[in-house]
Order: sequence, then structure tokens, then C-alpha cells
Amino acid sequence: MPDHWFEDVAEHLGAAYLRYSFTKGTRQEVEFLIPALGLEPGMRVLDVGCGPGRHAYALAERGIAVHGIDISRRFIELARQDAPEGATFERLDARNLPFESEFDVVICLCQGAFGLMTADGHDETVIAAMAKALRPAGRLALSAFSSYFVAKHWAEADFDADTGVNHERTEIRDEAGLAIETSLWTGCYTPRELRLLCAAHGLWVDSISSVEPGAYGFESPNVDTAEFLLLATRA
Ligand SMILES: C[S@@+](CC[C@H](N)C(=O)[O-])C[C@H]1O[C@@H](n2cnc3c(N)ncnc32)[C@H](O)[C@@H]1O
Repeated sequence: MPDHWFEDVAEHLGAAYLRYSFTKGTRQEVEFLIPALGLEPGMRVLDVGCGPGRHAYALAERGIAVHGIDISRRFIELARQDAPEGATFERLDARNLPFESEFDVVICLCQGAFGLMTADGHDETVIAAMAKALRPAGRLALSAFSSYFVAKHWAEADFDADTGVNHERTEIRDEAGLAIETSLWTGCYTPRELRLLCAAHGLWVDSISSVEPGAYGFESPNVDTAEFLLLATRA
């Protein structure tokens, strides 16, 4: 019995995860985040829900040490396979992180743990654990799916307006091309909810922007873009 529904998804996808177009913008995302978060060589980053480690690799290749954690054994195995110096990986559940005031920066991108709902309240547990892992004045970068976008643009969405969770049936293919149908659940947010969550856990919000994969920037939140990127500082 997996600890999280995404583990079966990751098991089937394996390295084929990195074929999805939304994973192709890693370089731009990292090049935006380095100055936006004041990242410098020698700093330590925690990558929560790191998947196969694409952001961790890109940061480590720029001299920034990264520890990636993910609940999927398969993704952690893949991440460890070709890890560059400075990138380490561990199977951990983001709902139960052991870190305290240890990291200069925490990143949680592309719904890495935050927003992959298993039960009410788990996202709040993940935010609390990430805030605790940061040193005082450490920075957080978190992406979240937009409730506005799903409600306005996603005609086929099965969006629960009460919980803000979107349920989607989709086909996923493994490395050999074998397709299976699976369910995906995504916890969706408004900027106001993100600010309230941060305020409850000692995080000062620096910015919330509407972004697309591979096109991170500082555009004000709108209702027509799928993701928000939040940057915050631990009090
Ligand atoms: C859509 S992937 C994003 C991966 C990576 N951050 C990226 O940008 O490619 C979501 C990841 O979050 C992980 N995840 C989901 N819930 C988690 C949890 N409770 N603890 C740790 N990892 C989790 C999944 O296993 C998966 O690797």
C-alpha cells in the first residue's frame, strides 16, 4: 500500500515523466529563481517533492548544494542515478519532514508535494514543515495551481468548488510507451488563500506571480494562467 497516490503514477512513468512538456523549462525556471531568491554558491537548498531531480541538478551544476526529497521511491532512484556533485536525494514524506532551521532556501515546484491533495489539511502540514526547515530570513519558492484558471478555462475539469481540489482522468505512458488511465488530484489556490496560509506559518509573502512552466517571472496574478509562483521569507 503506497503512502501517497502519486507513488503509483511515478512508478508507471519512471523516466518518461521527463518527456512531458511542462518539465522542459527547467533552465529558465532556475535562472529566474537564482537572483529572485538571492541564491549563491555555498548556500543549501531543500527541494520538496523533487521528482527525478531536474531543479536540484540544475542548481547543483551552478554550485548550489541541494537536498531533494520525494515520496516516490522510483523518482528518488532516478534522481540518484546521475546526480551531479552537490545534489543529494532521500525518500521522505513532505508531511513529516525532520529539518529545523537548516536551509537557506526551500523550493517546492510544479506541485511537488504541495497541492497533490491526499486529505484536507495536508497542504497546511507541508507548508508548516517547509517553514520549519528554513533558517530565519530563509526564502521559499512555491508553485500552486490556480483555482481561477481551472474554473474559468478547464471545461472538462471535475473541480470541487467546496474543497478546491480538481480531479482529472488522464492517460500516462511508461518508458516503453505503455499507456494506463489514472486519476490525478490537484489542490488549487487563489493568491489570497496562499497569503493566509503563509501568514499562519510565519512566512512573509514577497510576491505572487502568474507563471507558466519555463516562463517564470513577476507578472501580477491573473485568472487566465494556470499557475501561481509564490516567493516568501521566513520571519
Ligand atoms: C508533478 S511532480 C513535480 C516534481 C518536481 N518538483 C518537478 O518540478 O518536476 C510532484 C512530485 O511531488 C511528489 N510528492 C507528492 N506528495 C508528496 C509528499 N507528501 N511528500 C514528498 N513528495 C511528494 C511526487 O512523488 C512527485 O514526484
